[in-house]
Amino acid sequence: MLSVVSIVPPTFNPAPAPVSADAGTWFAFDKVSLSLDGKSVLHEVSVRSSARRIGMVGRNGSGKSTFARLFAGLIAPTTGSVEVRGVDVAKDRRAALSTVGILFQNPDHQIIFPTVEEELAFGLLQQGVSKADAAEQVAQLLAQFGKSHWAPEAAHSLSQGQKKLVCLMAVLAMKPKAIVLDEPLSGLDIPTQLQLSRYLDDADAMLVHIAHDPDHIRDYDEVLWLEEGRLVADGAPAKVLPAFTARMHELGGGDALSDLAG
Ligand SMILES: Nc1ncnc2c1ncn2[C@@H]1O[C@H](COP(=O)(O)OP(=O)(O)OP(=O)(O)O)[C@@H](O)[C@H]1O
Ligand SMILES: [Mg+2]
Repeated sequence: MLSVVSIVPPTFNPAPAPVSADAGTWFAFDKVSLSLDGKSVLHEVSVRSSARRIGMVGRNGSGKSTFARLFAGLIAPTTGSVEVRGVDVAKDRRAALSTVGILFQNPDHQIIFPTVEEELAFGLLQQGVSKADAAEQVAQLLAQFGKSHWAPEAAHSLSQGQKKLVCLMAVLAMKPKAIVLDEPLSGLDIPTQLQLSRYLDDADAMLVHIAHDPDHIRDYDEVLWLEEGRLVADGAPAKVLPAFTARMHELGGGDALSDLAG
């Protein structure tokens, strides 16, 4: 069992500042706790930020994907509240849809349409874009990624990495104000990772990027570290990532199987 208290020096813990969204705040979790099927998954997570690019790290099962689903309003907290750009994303689903985009960890959980072009057009049509305009925007997006030939392909016949790219394109097409990306680069080849990272850097959206590889978020504005459903560190990457990496190596260096996640 991981001792959360021993993971990082207490000075890294976020100050328990009162949380309420204001004009400069991108998002605010206020004492968010969540139980799923009777299991306590997140415990009193409070964080607010006005940073544009936020990274998130944590071991398997620490609650990162759950955090992402809460951030996108796909699930409601058991107690506490989640606001993104002033929108209570769990309560105001309509506003949430135009505010937050989410890239799921597993693209098979995201893709619902037979062809790539239908998958990419869906969000735009939901937003009220006409069929003709949606088709044009989809064609432009595919061309931007050099994937015009994917348009008529069966989305489910693509490889995992290719599906992931389709999902990301679908999210970007909707131009949300904030995007939560659940391990967006995992499983992608190096050129695609580099291309995607550049694209994300230029995206006109606030990002929460969940990653296991610290290199993917090293130049971000802020990094959150979750362990066992608790926020154990929140700060500059230069502070949080070395502590995280050291702790992960410490755990990985031990022989005790009880140190494995879960
Ligand atoms: N529907 C559910 N019912 C019960 N427990 C759940 C459910 N979904 C997730 N959990 C539990 O919540 C915890 C956090 O899961 P989550 O998927 O958020 O972790 P994670 O940090 O994203 O892990 P990974 O790095 O493996 O993706 C895990 O212990 C998991 O078993
Ligand atoms: Mg996950």
